[in-house]
Amino acid sequence: MTATATASGRGTRTVTLTIDGESVSVPEGSTILEACRGVGIDTPTFCYLETLTPVNACRVCVVELEGSRVLVPACARKAEPGMVVRTDSERVRQSRKMVLELLASSVDLSYAPDDVQGYLTRYDVEPERFGSPAAPDAGGERDRAATGRHHAAPDGRAATVAQPVKVDNELYVRDYARCILCYKCVEACGVDAQNTFAIAVAGRGFEARISTEFATPLPDSACVYCGNCIAVCPTGALMFKSEHDMRRAGTWDEPRQTVTDTICPYCGVGCTLQLHVQDNRIVKVTSPLDHDVTLGNLCIKGRFGWQFVQNRADNGPDGRVAQQ
Ligand code: SF4
Ligand code: SF4
Ligand code: FES
Repeated sequence: MTATATASGRGTRTVTLTIDGESVSVPEGSTILEACRGVGIDTPTFCYLETLTPVNACRVCVVELEGSRVLVPACARKAEPGMVVRTDSERVRQSRKMVLELLASSVDLSYAPDDVQGYLTRYDVEPERFGSPAAPDAGGERDRAATGRHHAAPDGRAATVAQPVKVDNELYVRDYARCILCYKCVEACGVDAQNTFAIAVAGRGFEARISTEFATPLPDSACVYCGNCIAVCPTGALMFKSEHDMRRAGTWDEPRQTVTDTICPYCGVGCTLQLHVQDNRIVKVTSPLDHDVTLGNLCIKGRFGWQFVQNRADNGPDGRVAQQ
């Protein structure tokens, strides 16, 4: 029997391939990932997002393709007629485990979504086998690291990207100890959305890091504070300052938050805003990824210009507008 996987925005012709022994038909132009998802196969991804161009940076989505010497990234490889794909072979599991172990041993994944924690369990990830973590960067060392000069951590410890959080403005923070170098923020800041190019990957190898030009603080950089990079960051490395401060204070409580859709009041484009509200205060603003106008992107006004709602002089201590 042939299962049919759907993918929006594709042509009407279909291609049929075999995934884990099952015949699957997808619209021509679909990726292997879309074919897998269409038939309910949960494939981990880090650098992939529907709204961004695939960059094949993380390799956690790899699958085995009959006739191919190497594993192929499911997120970028187009489905072709007659392909025979295996998503859960020993080779695939081993490769995903290694990628996850290298990340989990060097990056703080504690704010990553639940499905990432699930993958760590599914692939039996043992980051501790790389040794205990080396001492964190005191601040700025990774920004100054010379290209291509990797020095192994001392005493057989695991090298990490641990470093202090960069807090240099009132809108968002950069906590690169949580950065998995998925490139999503770079893409969102570049040609995929914002075309501002305020951030890029600097350095090579283990010293590769996301950086502004010459590691200049954000207020001195080309950043226009659209926050579209925060919207795509999968690990909490880029975060609203409001969320960062509340997490530090121990008051961030996502299960208690409500999310309300509204329309940005600032201009005629009318972007959809999702207000995340806790204790009657807006704590951050997002926009739905599947909105066909904005694709999750906003400008500085929609993303950050909401303090006026709760900072009026006549607001009571709970943030409510006092009755006249
Ligand atoms: S806030 Fe916008 S302009 Fe600034 S780094 Fe992020 S994506 Fe680029
Ligand atoms: S800051 Fe976030 S979005 Fe950017 S590369 Fe790191 S993990 Fe990815
Ligand atoms: S999700 Fe496919 S390479 Fe990163």
